[in-house]
Amino acid sequence: MAWGGGWGGGGGGGMFGGPHTGSSNGLPFGGIPTELMNGVNKILATEPEHPASDLAFTQLPTPDEARRLTLPLLLSRHQGLFVWGSLLTILIALFGQVGPALVSIAIDHGMLAGHYHLDIVLWCAAAYLGSAVSTVVAQRISAVVQGKLASYIMRDLRILVFTHLQRLSLDFFTEEKVGVLMSRMTSDIENLQQLLQDGITTFAQQGLTMIIIVAVMFSMNVTLALWTLVLVVPILTLLTIWFHRRSEAGYVRSRDAIAGVLSDLSESLYGIRVVTANNRQRFNINNHRNVVGNYRDTNMYTGRINATYGPATIAIGILGQGLLLGIGGSMVISHHMSVGVLIAFFLYLNRFFGPIQLLVQQYNLLQQGRSSIIKLRELLAMHPSVNEKPQAETLPRLDGRFEFRNVTFGYDPARPVLTDVNLTIEPGQSIAFVGPTGAGKSTLAKLATRFYDPTDGAIFLDGHDLRDVTLHSLRSQLGVVPQEPFLFAGTLRSNLRFGRPEATDEEIDEAVDLVGLRDLVTRLPRGLDTVVHERGQTLSAGERQLLALGRAFLARPRVLVLDEATSSLDLQSETVIERALDRILEGRTAILIAHRLTTAQRADRIVVVDHGGIVEAGSHRELVALGGKYAGMYQSWIDAGGRDSAI
Ligand SMILES: Nc1ncnc2c1ncn2[C@@H]1O[C@H](COP(=O)(O)OP(=O)(O)OP(=O)(O)O)[C@@H](O)[C@H]1O
Ligand SMILES: [Mg+2]
Repeated sequence: MAWGGGWGGGGGGGMFGGPHTGSSNGLPFGGIPTELMNGVNKILATEPEHPASDLAFTQLPTPDEARRLTLPLLLSRHQGLFVWGSLLTILIALFGQVGPALVSIAIDHGMLAGHYHLDIVLWCAAAYLGSAVSTVVAQRISAVVQGKLASYIMRDLRILVFTHLQRLSLDFFTEEKVGVLMSRMTSDIENLQQLLQDGITTFAQQGLTMIIIVAVMFSMNVTLALWTLVLVVPILTLLTIWFHRRSEAGYVRSRDAIAGVLSDLSESLYGIRVVTANNRQRFNINNHRNVVGNYRDTNMYTGRINATYGPATIAIGILGQGLLLGIGGSMVISHHMSVGVLIAFFLYLNRFFGPIQLLVQQYNLLQQGRSSIIKLRELLAMHPSVNEKPQAETLPRLDGRFEFRNVTFGYDPARPVLTDVNLTIEPGQSIAFVGPTGAGKSTLAKLATRFYDPTDGAIFLDGHDLRDVTLHSLRSQLGVVPQEPFLFAGTLRSNLRFGRPEATDEEIDEAVDLVGLRDLVTRLPRGLDTVVHERGQTLSAGERQLLALGRAFLARPRVLVLDEATSSLDLQSETVIERALDRILEGRTAILIAHRLTTAQRADRIVVVDHGGIVEAGSHRELVALGGKYAGMYQSWIDAGGRDSAI
């Protein structure tokens, strides 16, 4: 957004106004030295204008996006280039096969003893040269057109798949390994690129060439053409069917194997700390060796099949030539055919089998591309389990009244985690979920924010069933701090701004003070413009939590859900946060999940979750007075040295 506006509006270098004003837009940027400014202006003058993106994201795919993924569909989006490419392909195939015909004309009409015609020979030679040059020129243009077509289609496809991934629900990403998805986006898409770039054209060209050759052979001599075909084609067909079956199976296996390699790789890299700490390197290498070995095996399998098919076709070609020599030669002697035609037949037969080797290579590309398309199609056919209804309404500005009505839910519907939960949270009320590990507190929060839909029952927000409203209007009014906060590679500032890109620097400063991040920010050399590395690895767990809190506060949501948002904080930071929470929560509905009862105590109401449901609910005092589960938890908390925030 900022870039689009900056470049578009700035035009020829205006965006830098003066040499030292660059940092106002939040980039870690100290300005461009005057001596470099000329160069910058020169570059900017030739830069294309980047208009603001007109991209729109809708939860439900547009009819165009929802169409079944096929190669023709992808091609049909760039009809102009496709038509050009096809025309050139036909031209190349035609130009390429003029040669032998010219040779036969030159021999039969220019070189036979007693009938020498130098002019015919020269004309034929010139035409031969002309056709060769035309072929080369057409091939060059065709390569450019194909390259362009392939790049456009790849871009379309990458965006299509990425957009689809943005739509899918949490359960999909829990089940599917990141590495497998990565391999879809890299290896599978690259396969297609190769196929589009030269595979399809070569395939079409060679196929066309073979048809042209057969047609020309028939036009020259029907008997000999029939002989050739009857002897050669059946064997070739059988062999090709065998090859097709084997290699198709091989390539599907190899797609799965490469996905296995990538997912093992990504898991090992993400978990490198745990791997090292547990001395699992040897085990991991061994495991990776197996996975890679599996991939090697599938490659060797397809390699073996190619190694059989290629030489076998050459053998058939030689066999054909031998037969041709015998049959054709006797036809020449019996004056049923001229020498020129026999030579042309030889040349054509050579050209008929010549491309088969190439076809085998291209066929591999085609197979790889096909299995890639199948895999991508499967991915694109996945429906988000949490989806919008076509007539979903936009949720108006919220008061924040939650109602769980007979909610039953299980990640696996056969094994419910929560059973028949009824709960009402009034607007502006803060409610704390407490209970043992694995009781279902986070699950309740995930249901309230519609990361999952209840298996049974319904959840209402201000009287709207969550399933009837658009996801965008719902999430834009909810602020969630998950149990494991996630930071993106970028600056602290951009991470804070994540939920509300238009937040001003003043608002960011306010949030920083509020959540107690000021200490950290002043300690860092570049302050808020310090870059945090991927997933916030350069920050401590507590600092990450503070940032995530700041991010949620900055978004000013109507409803806040904090899942163990303060679990990694020391006592002092926690006190800061608690005070901040009191301010932040004012007038907002909030769901707090906390093992530390100090945090829970600040909530208006405490709900004890256990055994798949709500076992107690009330204020801290009421529950302590009740002497039930909460009172027990509270007693052990105090006995263990826990702090009572009321004291
Ligand atoms: N994605 C998932 N798929 C399957 N089961 C899950 C999934 N997430 C959680 N569970 C199971 O659901 C139950 C409730 O999990 P939940 O995360 O809600 O517990 P919790 O009360 O938040 O625990 P904690 O205090 O440890 O955070 C647990 O038994 C857990 O094993
Ligand atoms: Mg939890």
